[in-house]
Amino acid sequence: MRVALLAIGALVACTSADAAFCRCQPDQPCWPNEDKWASLNSSTDGNLVKVTPFALPCHDPTFDAEECSIAQEHSNSSTYRSSDPGALQWSNWETWPEKDEQCYIETPQSTPCKQGRIPLLSVKVKEAKHIQEAVKFAAKHNLKLVIKNSGHDFIGRSSAPNSLQIFTHDMKEISIVDEFVPTVPVNTGTPPSTKAVKLGAGVQLHEMYSYLGSKGVMVVAGTANTVGITGGYIQGGGHSLLGWLHGMASDNALEFEVVLADGSLIVANDYQNSDLFFALRGGGGGSFGVVVSATVKAHPNYPTVVATLNYTTPVGASYWDGVGALQKHILEINDKGGSGFYGLIPNTPISDTQTVSALVFMATFVNQTDTKAVEQLMAPVKSDIKNAIGAEPYSDIAALPTLSTLYSSLLQGDDTTGHQMRLATRLLSRQFYESGNHTKLTSALSTIAYGPADGIVGAFVAGGQVSKNRNIDSGLNPAWRDTMVHLIAAHYMSPEMTFDEQKAFEANITNTEVPLLRSLEPGEMGAYMNEADADETDFQQSFWGENYPRLQEIKASRDPDDLFIARKGVGSEKWDDSGLCRA
Ligand SMILES: Cc1cc2nc3c(=O)[nH]c(=O)nc-3n(C[C@H](O)[C@H](O)[C@H](O)COP(=O)(O)OP(=O)(O)OC[C@H]3O[C@@H](n4cnc5c(N)ncnc54)[C@H](O)[C@@H]3O)c2cc1C
Ligand SMILES: *[C@@H]1O[C@H](CO)[C@@H](O)[C@H](O)[C@H]1NC(C)=O
Ligand SMILES: *[C@@H]1O[C@H](CO)[C@@H](O)[C@H](O)[C@H]1NC(C)=O
Ligand SMILES: *[C@@H]1O[C@H](CO)[C@@H](O)[C@H](O)[C@H]1NC(C)=O
Ligand SMILES: *[C@@H]1O[C@H](CO)[C@@H](O)[C@H](O)[C@H]1NC(C)=O
Ligand SMILES: *[C@@H]1O[C@H](CO)[C@@H](O)[C@H](O)[C@H]1NC(C)=O
Ligand SMILES: *[C@@H]1O[C@H](CO)[C@@H](O)[C@H](O)[C@H]1NC(C)=O
Repeated sequence: MRVALLAIGALVACTSADAAFCRCQPDQPCWPNEDKWASLNSSTDGNLVKVTPFALPCHDPTFDAEECSIAQEHSNSSTYRSSDPGALQWSNWETWPEKDEQCYIETPQSTPCKQGRIPLLSVKVKEAKHIQEAVKFAAKHNLKLVIKNSGHDFIGRSSAPNSLQIFTHDMKEISIVDEFVPTVPVNTGTPPSTKAVKLGAGVQLHEMYSYLGSKGVMVVAGTANTVGITGGYIQGGGHSLLGWLHGMASDNALEFEVVLADGSLIVANDYQNSDLFFALRGGGGGSFGVVVSATVKAHPNYPTVVATLNYTTPVGASYWDGVGALQKHILEINDKGGSGFYGLIPNTPISDTQTVSALVFMATFVNQTDTKAVEQLMAPVKSDIKNAIGAEPYSDIAALPTLSTLYSSLLQGDDTTGHQMRLATRLLSRQFYESGNHTKLTSALSTIAYGPADGIVGAFVAGGQVSKNRNIDSGLNPAWRDTMVHLIAAHYMSPEMTFDEQKAFEANITNTEVPLLRSLEPGEMGAYMNEADADETDFQQSFWGENYPRLQEIKASRDPDDLFIARKGVGSEKWDDSGLCRA
């Protein structure tokens, strides 16, 4: 018996490895005919649409002056791009370099527009049933399926060529549940209730913050306008200005409603489907099922002290001395409850002939009101920077009544997107900062080549409760528990580059810049998959560390046919880069 099972196992393994198993392509007989698409359309209440690339009206032979000028006007608007199934936020993910397909808005009218990685059809889902129908249809017809929420993804997970898209944007439910009780299996005692917020799959951060602010409620969520909360963000972990006080966003999840690969709608929490609950808290978006809603812990809308600081210098050594002076203080700022970001823009053009280097810094002290204490904390930071750059940096400290007040001034509706963007990132530990090795970080950063407006973001959004939550059993990259700074180098590519030039540029990030960052802290820290090099080497280890084997097992048991393959997601190593054929 045992031998027979082994033999069957080997046979199955062999057939799937042998044949180049691929998703059905539009030119093949397996592709659903008009009748079949019409039946999907009717089972999803008429929400199926054909998808064309955002910039299609700007190119021959489909040029349309009026439509094109609307697209151009909104090209850098993340609000607009999130609401269009035919757009992503970073336009390099709209292209399919292997097939030489792009539809950049910047290229001349005479350059034809190609579909690229923009899906062919989309179900603009309004309710769970639509998601279930789309999932079943994709499984039945062997279609490549993608989930697009806001389309902010940096590593190409929310698009794929020749695919059917599930577009979650319209699922905008936000409700405050005063006494939330997790759904439990029969014969299980009633768990204690908690104040919570239930969020639909399409809710975006700024609309959530403005609604919750009006109700005096706050949740652990990101610092952006149009990023979604229940999609890639929370499923990848989710860092937040509230992290220091309450942990990662995924630590605050209480329950998910999810549509699985077999089309079933289930609830995952600590009491049932806990394998999925583990995976959806850090295992990454697009890999386990389609989240319909997430219920997360509600927190008070805390008062917050905000410290800001900035300076510009001529390009040169003193700029980096100032950066070094700031790095030295990050640890003590974080230990006092400070969370935030520093941004370095070493090559900022201010005129046709002049370039300066700029630094901006913001630390929030959530649930604090004592501006004097923050002033004392910031005084040596300012004086060390002054000594380094020879001038007093601009700085300010303000006490805000609520965290919402900060978000509503910081987040005004749009993130600036629409460019070709690549990142090199690393999670750096507390120990790294304690050891004084941040001096090596500063000198390494000073050797990177920065295009105009390229920059570094140092996100000090961990420590505190993020570290204390070490024992939460979830798919989150364990490196977050030791992290002090999530370091991001952001590079713009140009639409004028050929695909070969872009490829060389990207390879340089992967083969030169990421290794430079990796070399600073030898060991097992890794990177945050939601903000990472899209070609991260050994991504399984970098993004999930020791959690990867368990995530793989959950993936295999819950999605045995790999319906949900996201680029660089759990299980994606078995597929080609587009997720179209088994590798
Ligand atoms: C301007 C900007 C600011 C950011 N700020 C922060 C921040 O403060 N903190 C932070 O942690 N990150 C931040 N990020 C990174 C952000 O978390 C990721 O880009 C994340 O992938 C966005 O998720 P999304 O669902 O909005 O995007 P999408 O690109 O639509 O989706 C991302 C991934 O999630 C999957 N997915 C989407 N919806 C679902 C669903 N309902 N069910 C299952 N899978 C789904 C998609 O298939 C894809 O794999 C920021 C990014 C940008 C561009
Ligand atoms: C789906 O049905 C709606 C409403 O009947 C219709 O407007 C739409 O064009 C249909 N979609 C497709 C792809 O045919
Ligand atoms: C969008 O951004 C690009 C690059 O920064 C810029 O050249 C262009 O003018 C912007 N478009 C709009 C409409 O603001
Ligand atoms: C917020 O501050 C108040 C007053 O200092 C304190 O009692 C409370 O415990 C703090 N909340 C958290 C989550 O730390
Ligand atoms: C720098 O700080 C000053 C004073 O706080 C502020 O007015 C200015 O807008 C800041 N500049 C930048 C680029 O943030
Ligand atoms: C600091 O750098 C040294 C020299 O590269 C290295 O041996 C050590 O492991 C580093 N320590 C930490 C905590 O990163
Ligand atoms: C590759 O990256 C390094 C480090 O940033 C930089 O010095 C070099 O100019 C880059 N080369 C190319 C071809 O982009």
